[in-house]
This record gives sequence, C-alpha cells and structure tokens, in this order.
Amino acid sequence: MPKILVTGGAGFIGSHTVIELLNNGYDVVIVDNLVNSEKFILKKIEEITGKTPTFYQVDCANTNELVTVFNQHPDIALAIHFAALKAVKESIEKPLEYYRNNLLSLISLLDLMDRFGIEKFVFSSSCTIYGEDAPLPMDENLQIMPTTSPYGRTKQMCESILADYAVVNSNFKYISLRYFNPIGAHPSGLIGELPIGSPNNLVPYITQTAAGVRDELKVFGSDYSTPDGTAQRDYIDIMDLAQAHVQSVDRLINRLEPQQFEAFNLGSGKPVSVKEIIDTFERVNGIHLKWSFAPRRAGDLPTIYADSKKAKEVLKWEAKTSLAESLANAWKWERSHRNID
Ligand code: NAD
Ligand code: WQD
Repeated sequence: MPKILVTGGAGFIGSHTVIELLNNGYDVVIVDNLVNSEKFILKKIEEITGKTPTFYQVDCANTNELVTVFNQHPDIALAIHFAALKAVKESIEKPLEYYRNNLLSLISLLDLMDRFGIEKFVFSSSCTIYGEDAPLPMDENLQIMPTTSPYGRTKQMCESILADYAVVNSNFKYISLRYFNPIGAHPSGLIGELPIGSPNNLVPYITQTAAGVRDELKVFGSDYSTPDGTAQRDYIDIMDLAQAHVQSVDRLINRLEPQQFEAFNLGSGKPVSVKEIIDTFERVNGIHLKWSFAPRRAGDLPTIYADSKKAKEVLKWEAKTSLAESLANAWKWERSHRNID
C-alpha cells in the first residue's frame, strides 16, 4: 500500500488520522518533534491498530534533519502536513515563533517533496482563514480575509505559499482541509487531546474540570445574540475528521481530483452553543460540571459554522458522530489518561 508521510502525527488530529490510515491499509511514516505531544501516543496507536508506524523525532522546519527521512523513504506517495503550533493566544505573545515554525516547516517540506518528486499533499487548514466578517454559514468560495491572530495568519500564508508553489509545479495536486472545532477522542479512550498546560479550548477545559484538575469552567460571554446568549461553534468529532483525511488521501492517490487544488470545510454544519455543550456533557456522562459566567473572551465571534455541502457532494464525507458520543469519548479519554474509575 502507498506510504504516507504524516507530519505532526503524534498530535491530536494527526494521531487519530494515523490510526485510520493504518486501518485502511496505508503505510505510515510519522515526523513529529514532540513540541506539543508525547511519545507514549505511538504505543497507543500500536495498541489500537496492531501496527507500528515508523517514527522520526524531527523538526520539520529543519531541512537538514527532515532530509534524512526522505532519504530513507524515497517511496513516500503523499504527505499530510499537520505539524504546526496552534494556540491562538500564544501566537499573539510569540509571533516570531509561530511564523518561524509554521511557515518554515511547510517550506522545508515542500522543498524536499520537490527534490524527491512527491506530488500529492494534504494541508491542515482552519476556518480561521475566512476572517472575522465572513457571512454564515462559511463556504469554500469565501475570500481569505484578514484575521486577528498571527496563528490565523500563518494558516493564510501557508495556503498562499501552496498556491504559489502549485503555479510552477503543474503536477502538484493538493487538498486543503479547513477544520472548524475538532473535539472528542478515539472510542477506545486510549488516545485523545493532550493539551500541555492549561487548555485554551472548551472541551479539554471541561474534561479537566470534571476530572478535578481545574476548579471551574468559565463560560466566556452570556450576552451574545444567540438563542441562549452563549457563543456558538461548529464542533466536529475527531474520528469523523480522521476519516475525511483518509478520503482525501484516497482521492489524491486514486487521481479522482479533477483540479490541482481543492478546499473542503470540515464541520457538522450545525451551530452549537457553549451552554449546549455543557448540558450535553453533563447529561451523557452523568456529571455535574462546576461552571460560571465570565466576560466575553477578546476576539471571540458570536457564531461560526460551516457550510459543509461541498465535502458531502465531492469528497463523499459528512459528520456522523453525535455531539453526545464525542463528549462521552472525550470524558472516557480524560478518565483513562488520569486513571479515574
Ligand atoms: P497538536 O498540537 O495536537 O498537533 C500538532 C503536532 O505537530 C504536535 O504533535 C507537535 O509536536 C507537532 N509539531 C509542531 N511543530 C512541529 C515541527 N516544526 N516539526 C515537527 N512536529 C511539529 O495540534 P492538532 O490539534 O492536532 O492540530 C493539527 C493541525 O491542525 C495543526 O496544523 C493545526 O493548526 C490544525 N488545526 C487544528 C485545529 C484545532 O482546533 N485542533 C483547528 C483547525 C486547524
Ligand atoms: C469554543 C467556544 C469560547 C474556553 C479555536 C481557534 C480556531 C480553531 C479552533 C485552529 C468559544 C468558549 C472556551 C473556555 C469558554 N483552531 N470557551 N470557556 O476559539 O472557537 O476556535 O480553535 O485553527 O482557529 O480560534 O475554540 O475551544 O477556544 O472556544 O466559554 O474556557 O467556547 O468563548 O465560544 P475557538 P475554543
């Protein structure tokens, strides 16, 4: 089976995708410098799939290090590029770190793909590229518009770098997957999201609060113009997301794509409020969550959700997992990770 290079494959979305690639018979080579992940995840991938992906602890931004991987695997058929720093607030505090890491890792990867004649690519993009004023629901035809964080700008710049690279490499075919809000965990509870330090994202903050690691959840904003006053997002289950990557890989490997470039929004297409997340989490897991309202978080929008029609029609992919299932799996993972009965 074709060999797939997965950068950032020890991370949240990467590790779940690796599992689905292995389950679908692909060979996988992971490159991750473990800046935001831990090595034990590789053992868990092995436990779940019965297969051992090849692993290199390498910084993608370092071409001299990354070339060793290509020298040993000149038969790589396609790369999926997850490796990036992703914390919005941290990116405002450390812009150069974000630009250096996220831009140089893409550039050095493309450079080596070019040298080794690898022409298929899947990029981890984000709904954040559509900017602050995008009309809802967000579809793929929207212009890339100014966004507030350096992190968001790295994603926009990466999409521009890819477009420019594609102009001069006519055999290069790539898919950009623009995720909305990924949540959940593998149903085994063996792997899941592993934030280092205090989580910024809602669901890991909820599971850590339920586990007693955090005192209480602060709900940012109670006065949005939404049905219950709390902000709405489009939450997408991690296993559904992983499946979309497998379908994108299949599409590129089997040359089903008519164009050089395709973008797909990966969301459920449904806006869900913070309050609905809390209520569902409590109901499905039989837990009372400690939470209170706090002021709006700077930069947050009231509502964001995807128009997910294109992924359904073209990629034949749609979100299947219910919110309740995602939140049950997220809690299962938090419990197993912290040895809570
Ligand atoms: P994550 O931090 O869990 O995974 C990223 C992985 O990349 C980590 O294992 C990290 O160690 C690795 N990494 C970072 N820089 C690297 C480098 N220079 N060389 C090698 N490895 C490196 O994040 P995630 O949630 O799995 O996100 C994966 C991708 O999806 C990222 O590109 C992120 O920007 C994008 N994305 C994430 C979300 C989200 O909310 N989780 C939403 C939209 C887009
Ligand atoms: C979700 C909702 C918060 C924490 C981020 C990035 C975006 C994309 C996905 C990468 C919001 C509320 C949160 C808390 C809360 N990532 N919240 N209390 O901000 O929608 O999107 O991740 O590309 O670019 O910006 O996700 O999980 O932080 O917040 O009330 O402790 O939960 O206000 O309404 P967000 P999130």
